[in-house]
Amino acid sequence: MPAASLPIVEVATNGNRQTLTINRPFAGLALHATLAVPGDKSISHRALMLGAIASGETRVRGLLLGEDPRSTALCLQAMGAEISGLNASEVVVRGVGVGNLQEPADVLDAGNSGTTLRLLLGLLASQSGCCFTVTGDRSLRSRPMSRVVMPLRAMGAQIWGRRGDTLAPLAIRGQVLQPLRYESPIASAQVKSCVLLAGLATEGKTTVVEPARSRDHTERMLRAFGAEVRVDLEAHSATVTGPTQLRGQTVVVPGDISSAAFWLVAGAIVPDSELLVTGVGVNPTRTGILEALALMGADVQLLNQREVAGEPVADVLVRTSQLHGCKLGGALIPRLIDEIPILAVAATAATGKTTIEDAAELRVKESDRLAVTASQLARLGARITELPDGLEIEGGAPLRGAEVDSFGDHRIAMSLAIAALLAKGTTTIGGAEAVAISYPEFIAQLQQACGM
Ligand code: S3P
Repeated sequence: MPAASLPIVEVATNGNRQTLTINRPFAGLALHATLAVPGDKSISHRALMLGAIASGETRVRGLLLGEDPRSTALCLQAMGAEISGLNASEVVVRGVGVGNLQEPADVLDAGNSGTTLRLLLGLLASQSGCCFTVTGDRSLRSRPMSRVVMPLRAMGAQIWGRRGDTLAPLAIRGQVLQPLRYESPIASAQVKSCVLLAGLATEGKTTVVEPARSRDHTERMLRAFGAEVRVDLEAHSATVTGPTQLRGQTVVVPGDISSAAFWLVAGAIVPDSELLVTGVGVNPTRTGILEALALMGADVQLLNQREVAGEPVADVLVRTSQLHGCKLGGALIPRLIDEIPILAVAATAATGKTTIEDAAELRVKESDRLAVTASQLARLGARITELPDGLEIEGGAPLRGAEVDSFGDHRIAMSLAIAALLAKGTTTIGGAEAVAISYPEFIAQLQQACGM
């Protein structure tokens, strides 16, 4: 391929802020690469947390070394868990045992990570005799916490916070809790996991029932650590029986399908491309993206399917094809909740209309992802309309380079970078440092995929 046809991917750093420039003055870009995406973020948080409250040693291979799991690790270290090797290929956690977290000397900081804050709340609320204060960055301090405060209070938890106890910072006085059967109004793995973790130290059966199935990594990993967990797939319910101790384990974290999604869409929409993403977690509660891409006519194949430490894994091969619009909604949404911004990018390259509904949850993620996806893709020339609970994209409008911004949201930054590969001219993405939350290697791999 002639050098002139390659895009130029460059990063400029100014203080804490990075700007990613993607310059694509010529057509003729094709992506060809084999890529290994970093460890699954959801599984990484859980491996650290369960390791910290288990007895003995937990070894975690393939942990995501992004900012979100680091926030989890720092909080757990402040409460007495020993965590070593955070820059290495194997992280070792020496746990304190269920109910033995120590009162930290300072405020716990969950950074940008909703999973850290919401899952930790279940552990803290049930940690009797200790007081905790938890906070996060500006984005996290604006995200709703009542969804976990309410069920924890129904178990007897004492939690206070800003705006009627709905926003962080939150103060928690750990208690002996009562078991609960909680019918959650939303399909949220963070809510489910928070309540189940609170149930570990609680005498009796704690159950969460969801309106649709959310990711089940907590249930799988709790079982592997020796807890009694009952799952009813038809009723969308999960039950833990407490009090229980956990035993340290070896955890192998698969590649994050939410990170692989950027390559799956890039490979599908950039002409003449072929990308192989290796070692991707394909847990059925996370594979909505594969189903959505299949509905749109993408050429995606799962190769070498296997099971690694209780989670299904595959290599995923994608080749360019002409996508067509489709309708996404209902129970599929929780199974692709983090992939909607990048699916919106796929829809800009599809023929016809794509409608995404039942996705109002996106308004309370790291940014308002419906508003930000619509406004930033529109700046690149996409015909996209924000709906109260989703997005409507009229595919086929040619994209052109523009100045866009991540709004501090890692998945928006990466989605815009993939969109920029199709945009004629120069795109600059402000706030590109956000990629380090879940995918520190993203820009280097983007350069690799572009042949730089
Ligand atoms: C996560 C659950 C999802 C997801 C988030 C990670 C988890 O959030 O969006 O990125 O690890 O449990 P909700 O539980 O709010 O849907």
